[in-house]
Amino acid sequence: MKVEFAPLNIPLTRRLQTAAVSQWVFSFLLLAQCCVGIFFMLVLARFWLLISLYVLWLYLDWETPQTGGRRWEWVRSWTVWKHFKEYFPIKLIKTQDLDTQHNYLLGFHPHGVLVAGAFGNFCTNYTGFKELFPGLTPHLHILPFWFRCPFFREYAMSVGLVSSSKKSVTHVLSRPQGGNAAVVVVGGAEESLDAHPGNLTLHILNRKGFIKVALKRGAHLVPVFSFGENELFLQVPNPKGSVLRNIQDKLQKMLGFAVPLFHARGIFQYSFGLMPYRMPIHTVVGKPIPVKQTSNPTQEEIDELHQIYLESLQELFEENKAKYGIPEHKSLIFT
Ligand SMILES: *[C@@H]1O[C@H](CO)[C@@H](O)[C@H](O)[C@H]1NC(C)=O
Ligand SMILES: *[C@@H]1O[C@H](CO)[C@@H](O)[C@H](O)[C@H]1NC(C)=O
Repeated sequence: MKVEFAPLNIPLTRRLQTAAVSQWVFSFLLLAQCCVGIFFMLVLARFWLLISLYVLWLYLDWETPQTGGRRWEWVRSWTVWKHFKEYFPIKLIKTQDLDTQHNYLLGFHPHGVLVAGAFGNFCTNYTGFKELFPGLTPHLHILPFWFRCPFFREYAMSVGLVSSSKKSVTHVLSRPQGGNAAVVVVGGAEESLDAHPGNLTLHILNRKGFIKVALKRGAHLVPVFSFGENELFLQVPNPKGSVLRNIQDKLQKMLGFAVPLFHARGIFQYSFGLMPYRMPIHTVVGKPIPVKQTSNPTQEEIDELHQIYLESLQELFEENKAKYGIPEHKSLIFT
């Protein structure tokens, strides 16, 4: 294999961008494990006072990831996130204003391998969410197990991440004066196994829980499509029915999260590694679908709204695909 090295005369801004993204990939893949390791080292070193105080804190604070979290604008504004955004770069695009009288459930598609676009747009202060949607507070919902890791949970909550449990989404959408946006990555971990460049398969036909929550709380639904999300990494081929895919499906059922075997480039060379490619991400926020609050929605009502959502998502994709390099004959595939 021929290794293509990065040139030595790379400008400082690009080096900073690469550093910002590499620490983010590290945080995603290993920081939680490191935090658990540090916690056990404190136990082994018998720092009992520190440990008891932190465990007491965990006990008192256990529900916070499900009750809106604890965002800290200072962390969301760290300069590292500016470099992170500019690496790809990530752009947020608005198609219509969102009235802050309501709460919104934003369905984010596709998951991609590491959901970089959702993180950049909804967990940092650098893609202009605040300016585009003044008065709206975004919460990105991720799998609950992240919040069981000591220390890591505090960091995750500080950028505005919250749990994806039903209770948590319901909490965000219950603010009577409106102004909250719950961002849900509908396809979930399963979709990350299909995050190959060019793939437009969305796992959505059997996912209706988010529709039900929106109906119950009267939250307006907004489809969001992130062009470029699937182009950031390559993945070892894993078509449905292959040995690898069967193992990945079993692991996902056991662990609750997916294990995509992805690779792209490295820090100092472009031939292999876990760094994403520098590819633009364009996250387009669609038009809101008004939802009338229904305390006990029937299956028909859920199915009907789900269908409307699918059509609206399809329309958003069709209207924008030409701008972001998707060939005319390619369309979304719902599965
Ligand atoms: C977030 O960004 C806006 C402008 O984009 C800036 O005015 C504001 O000070 C930033 N917030 C913090 C806490 O730095
Ligand atoms: C996308 O993924 C689906 C599901 O694994 C697969 O059937 C399809 O062939 C893939 N399409 C492309 C263009 O990779």
